[in-house]
Amino acid sequence: MAKSKFEYVRLFEVDDRCLPNTWIVVRVDGKGFHKFSTEHGYEKPNDIKALSLMNRAATSVMEEFKDICLAYGQSDEYSFVFRKETQAYSRRSAKLSTNVCSLFTSAFVYYWNEYFPTIKPRYPPVFDGRTVLYPSNQNIRDYLSWRQADCHINNLYNTTFWALILKGGLTPTEAENKLKGTLSGDKNEILFSQFAINYNTEPEMLRKGTVLVRRKVAVALPNGGTREKSQIVQEHVDIIGDEFWNTNTHLLTLT
Ligand code: GTP
Ligand code: MG
Repeated sequence: MAKSKFEYVRLFEVDDRCLPNTWIVVRVDGKGFHKFSTEHGYEKPNDIKALSLMNRAATSVMEEFKDICLAYGQSDEYSFVFRKETQAYSRRSAKLSTNVCSLFTSAFVYYWNEYFPTIKPRYPPVFDGRTVLYPSNQNIRDYLSWRQADCHINNLYNTTFWALILKGGLTPTEAENKLKGTLSGDKNEILFSQFAINYNTEPEMLRKGTVLVRRKVAVALPNGGTREKSQIVQEHVDIIGDEFWNTNTHLLTLT
């Protein structure tokens, strides 16, 4: 077929295919969610409904992209780990990040009403997305450890900060000053001695974030028997230590 004289502009598109045999992570993060959470009445410091909506949106992404073997979410962010050898979109970086980010955002809006039935969205939420490559198993584990450590540090800070304000009657500035320079042991102590909160018994979803993985689960059949089916399940577990990886060796092994 004859090509138009404009065809040459295609050459301006650059090849952005990710290196072969490398872990691909797409991370999405809410844009300006400090404001979005305030405007939509999110509970402080954690809103279980909001976090559950994030988990629902991430599950939609994993249902669509079968090559995502694990996802990890906390606060307004979610990381999706593609199998090292995935050929999805010929490993094109922008295709991967835009498709994941777009589906995540539309699912967030699609399911909004199930989690916030009495609150109408005041404006359309926005998530950014990026693709990052990690060459070794240690790198991908360290990446996930970094995000879970971030969850722990922020959640301990926010839990103490809001206890000082909501239960202790401090202003935000007073609470900020009180926490300046404190270590995690100090925050645990403030929570326990002033507010009778044992941080270690706070819900695991808040302290550890959410891991999504595929597991074989038994489903009941009409004849009374059972059948194994692969399902996406939510787990609120430690992914920094070795235990999770030792019991899930398939995640880091090439298939
Ligand atoms: P950008 O990502 O740079 O656009 O800014 P951001 O305002 O989204 O901040 P960031 O991603 O660093 O942090 C997420 C913010 O979302 C937190 O600082 C909180 O203000 C808010 N947030 C996330 N989850 C919750 C929640 O469960 N409850 C409340 N109240 N706020 C939350
Ligand atoms: Mg954000």
